[in-house]
Amino acid sequence: MASTSTNVPTITLNDGKTIPQLGFGVFRVEPELTAGVVTDALEVGYRHIDTATGYHNEEGVGQAIAASGIARDDIFVTTKFPNNGEASAADTLRQSLDFLGFDHVDLYLIHWPRPRLGTALSAWQDLIELQREGLTTSIGVSNYRLQDLEQIIGETGVTPAVNQIELHLEFQQRELKKFHEEHGIATESWYPLGGGELSTAPALGEVAKAHGVTPAQAILRWQLQTGNIVIPKSSRRERMAENFDLFGFTLSDAELDALAAIDQGEGGRRGSHPDKL
Ligand SMILES: NC(=O)c1ccc[n+]([C@@H]2O[C@H](COP(=O)([O-])OP(=O)(O)OC[C@H]3O[C@@H](n4cnc5c(N)ncnc54)[C@H](OP(=O)(O)O)[C@@H]3O)[C@@H](O)[C@H]2O)c1
Repeated sequence: MASTSTNVPTITLNDGKTIPQLGFGVFRVEPELTAGVVTDALEVGYRHIDTATGYHNEEGVGQAIAASGIARDDIFVTTKFPNNGEASAADTLRQSLDFLGFDHVDLYLIHWPRPRLGTALSAWQDLIELQREGLTTSIGVSNYRLQDLEQIIGETGVTPAVNQIELHLEFQQRELKKFHEEHGIATESWYPLGGGELSTAPALGEVAKAHGVTPAQAILRWQLQTGNIVIPKSSRRERMAENFDLFGFTLSDAELDALAAIDQGEGGRRGSHPDKL
């Protein structure tokens, strides 16, 4: 291996398990390219991979991990249940494990709450059962809104370990993040770099320049220092390395404040709205 992941901090989840705070996402990585891309990411040093049934590339993730020679226990793998009414969580997770070549995943998330189907709660009850069966170590949700979180916690008494949500400089999700902090839910950012459209805010350029880093590195460092789990994606090895090289500089409180001011609230949202899926 070219490098190790020893610099990456871990976050302790509300179930006592740990997750590397910096991981690698594989959304929109073509299935036939995934094994190669994930092999590069592992060689760069990533030990946390984020995939989903909906990405159709779990097989490539599993192949890269199997071929890497790295112990399964040394790599944290997340996948996600679509909750789209097509198949049960139990069948879907078993299919994912088959594709990955694993007997369990480290984190299983419900990809979307699907208010139109009304299955935010029943899917959560299913994940609680799958965790009991040992098919996933930790369980969480993704794109759950405040009302979804209140519902599932209120009805089951089980708090998700993670809520993976769209979160970047323009869309900082203050209200939801506050709820997470109050309830011990770890915040995981998707579109951590803004989905590839990096912020052009002057404050970002100034912060990056002050530290001699790229805007992407400044954004990801901001994500880490504000406590988020972060899973940037790149198909290019040099950018994988750039996005992993975040531990040689620290943003000051004044710089964090300047970046906080880039938030545009709801107007900064770029991805799908959970109300609408
Ligand atoms: N739960 C959900 O609903 C949900 C939704 C979306 C994403 N996710 C997860 O979050 C992960 C990250 O989100 P994302 O992949 O959509 O967006 P992202 O990580 O914010 O951005 C990825 C894009 O940025 C580009 N990029 C990467 N590094 C860069 C750098 N250093 N400088 C400039 N551009 C750079 C990539 O292009 P190249 O590949 O060409 O480098 C790619 O187009 C996904 O892979 C997935 O695992 C989850």
